[in-house]
Amino acid sequence: MNKVPHYLLIGNGRVSKHFQHYFQHLGILYSVWSRADHNVQSMNEVVRNTSHVLLLISDSAIDPFIEEYPIVQEKIMIHFSGSYQSKFAVSTHPLQTFNQGLYSIEEYKKVPFILDETGPEFDALFPQLLNKHYTIPRELRPYYHTLCVMANNFSCLLWQKLFSEFEVKFKIPEEAIFQILEKSFSNLQTNWRTALTGPIARKDRKALISNLKSLENDPYQEIFKAFIGLLDT
Ligand SMILES: NC(=O)c1ccc[n+]([C@@H]2O[C@H](COP(=O)([O-])OP(=O)(O)OC[C@H]3O[C@@H](n4cnc5c(N)ncnc54)[C@H](OP(=O)(O)O)[C@@H]3O)[C@@H](O)[C@H]2O)c1
Repeated sequence: MNKVPHYLLIGNGRVSKHFQHYFQHLGILYSVWSRADHNVQSMNEVVRNTSHVLLLISDSAIDPFIEEYPIVQEKIMIHFSGSYQSKFAVSTHPLQTFNQGLYSIEEYKKVPFILDETGPEFDALFPQLLNKHYTIPRELRPYYHTLCVMANNFSCLLWQKLFSEFEVKFKIPEEAIFQILEKSFSNLQTNWRTALTGPIARKDRKALISNLKSLENDPYQEIFKAFIGLLDT
């Protein structure tokens, strides 16, 4: 019979806190080691009882950490970065954004994991998780992650720009914006192919030129120009 996994979560940042919460709810065995709360000597002690080491630390710290604590190399090493290619640890990217507040257990259960197609099977890494999982070619991981950053981070920055300008320039409160925000996302869920509306969808160049002019001296003018450029591709 296979031994029940015991995970060692390295780091106590956002993702670590979310997965501590999820694992706790599912009764999955885990320990946490973070540089702020534990000393170097305690690493040997905590690693001994674990089967898997989850490196939930900043991407650039993953391989240096493994080199600094070679004892973790005796275990199955996993990181959650979408873009980082580790020499030691396998990548399983949870396709979700994790901020400070915790989510409901149902939300964690719906988080898909994206793995390298040549790496170990998801079930070998997380036999107690029923989350959906998909594989991609390892060499396309940077492109995969770029798509995630563009869609998620860029759209968030654009919405933040709208929220702040509405508040400062027009004194329009945030609740006046929530409905269009929700509808934009629900239209994407209903049919992402037909979700685009407005002057870009209509190829209304006159309106778009006027939009562009209104952004004089605003760094977002270049962004607007780049999006209009997509019309010609
Ligand atoms: N947040 C997301 O939405 C998200 C989504 C998917 C995947 N991920 C991936 O999850 C991982 C963790 O991200 P996060 O958002 O949780 O980051 P985070 O909140 O910034 O936490 C980073 C953690 O790494 C620790 N750390 C940084 N450098 C270290 C070092 N040299 N040695 C030891 N510990 C170090 C920090 O410790 P201190 O507090 O002591 O500085 C902190 O506990 C990353 O690989 C990220 O790409 C994140």
